[in-house]
Amino acid sequence: MQGRSVWGSKLGFLLAAVGSAVGLGNVWRFSYVSYSNGGGAFLVPYIVAMLTVGIPLMILEYGLGHREKASPPLAFARIHHLWEPFGWWMPIVAFFGINLFYAVIIGWCFNYFLFALDLGWGLETEAFFKEHFLKVSSGPFAFEGIRWPIFIGAMFTWVICWFICFKEIRHGIEKASLLFMPVLLVMTIILVVWSLRLDGAMDAVRDHYLRFEWSAISLRTAAGRSVWIAAFGQIFFTLSLGFGIMITYASYLPKKSDITSNAIITCLIDCFYSIFAGLAVFGTIGYMAQAKGVEFGEAIAAGPGLAFVVYPEAINQLPAGNRTFGALFFLVLIIAGISSAISLTEAFTCSVCDKFNVSRKKTVSWLCVIGMGGSVIFTTHAGLYLLDIVDHFVNSYALILGGILECVLVGWLLKTSKMRKHIHAVSGRRVWPLWDIAIRFVVPVVLMSILLGSLYQEFSSAYEGYPVGALLLFGGGTLALSRLGAFVLSHVAWPYQKRTHAHTPDEETLLT
Ligand code: ALA
Repeated sequence: MQGRSVWGSKLGFLLAAVGSAVGLGNVWRFSYVSYSNGGGAFLVPYIVAMLTVGIPLMILEYGLGHREKASPPLAFARIHHLWEPFGWWMPIVAFFGINLFYAVIIGWCFNYFLFALDLGWGLETEAFFKEHFLKVSSGPFAFEGIRWPIFIGAMFTWVICWFICFKEIRHGIEKASLLFMPVLLVMTIILVVWSLRLDGAMDAVRDHYLRFEWSAISLRTAAGRSVWIAAFGQIFFTLSLGFGIMITYASYLPKKSDITSNAIITCLIDCFYSIFAGLAVFGTIGYMAQAKGVEFGEAIAAGPGLAFVVYPEAINQLPAGNRTFGALFFLVLIIAGISSAISLTEAFTCSVCDKFNVSRKKTVSWLCVIGMGGSVIFTTHAGLYLLDIVDHFVNSYALILGGILECVLVGWLLKTSKMRKHIHAVSGRRVWPLWDIAIRFVVPVVLMSILLGSLYQEFSSAYEGYPVGALLLFGGGTLALSRLGAFVLSHVAWPYQKRTHAHTPDEETLLT
């Protein structure tokens, strides 16, 4: 049996984890979710969600992966053998529920990067995006064939993803992260500074991004409650929590590793990055509103199209350097997206290899081929509807439920005291006792409330007015199939394979 890979350096691990966290969610998703949920007001629940749920769960996931030296299914099974199906659920959701459409959005970005080079989206950017580029059909059931430019972009994304994961941890994911993350940071800084220097940008940031309206987040109103739900969903998505990724990445850490500091740093960098990148989005749109002489609210449009409709329009209006600015923006999205897509692939790859002890290279190749096949549905004319529905269900239910299950597993079955002892032994940095309370009580209660709130909303009105049949089939179906897949994978084994979850002697030395 091949030994477990180990990160080459602490920085390599940290940048890979940050690379997983910082993704399309920080720019594409954060900008439209924050705008649709009160702009500046959204930042308050967002930061509360990071402090109360994000950081405690990140410590849990790093601790669990490091202690068990295993991907989620094996790590869960080692704590309680009946829990293996729950462990499978996370990487399955990450791969089939997210990565399939994630690769397609990166595919859109590749197309838009090329459009930016000659401002090929024209002056009517909304019509271009919906009617010319996506050729959006009349509804989620009207697939109407494949959009080839999108298909090619998505397949290209899968090939890059395969190439990096194929080269394994040190030579693939770590090297890519060491290259991608500094480049991403420099490009984002250029973008933000450039945006904020535009006329009207600072006013827009002040009036629409950094202005808090407490009434918008009042828990007494349905609208206020939905802002809180969106903020917690966004925190899970953006920090890659509940996907099994952080458990997997931490399983490649060496014996002595500072779990707590790494977890806190990952969360802070990711959230800071979102807020920082938001300055560029709001600033540029503010400039456009002023240039066109319209209200900010008229210039911006909510929904997944924000980055592909409003941003190109704003780029058209720039006084100089439009093409460079546009290419830079979409390159930022591509790099951020790919560093997350590889982590979504890695979590499932590692889970399969841990269980079946099969060749990693073959596994990753097969999974990428399956991923390419699965992404096709999102490259059809109905792709925009489908990804919106799947994204909604995965974020509102699967990831949150994953978080609750982790809390029960570590908080009640393993006991937080054992995990804390482990973290102290390997980190030399203490975890506050408050963390135990968070994992055993606060996080599960908060997440249960969010889950119930989402369910209530679901039954009160159909999400975004989609036909109920489409929500059930594509949203509910994704959740049901991933559960079924988890059940099947946890119950199969090669005929010759002895079913054991025991640690290898090397891993035993980690247990405290
Ligand atoms: N955490 C990744 C993102 O934000 C999935 O895009």
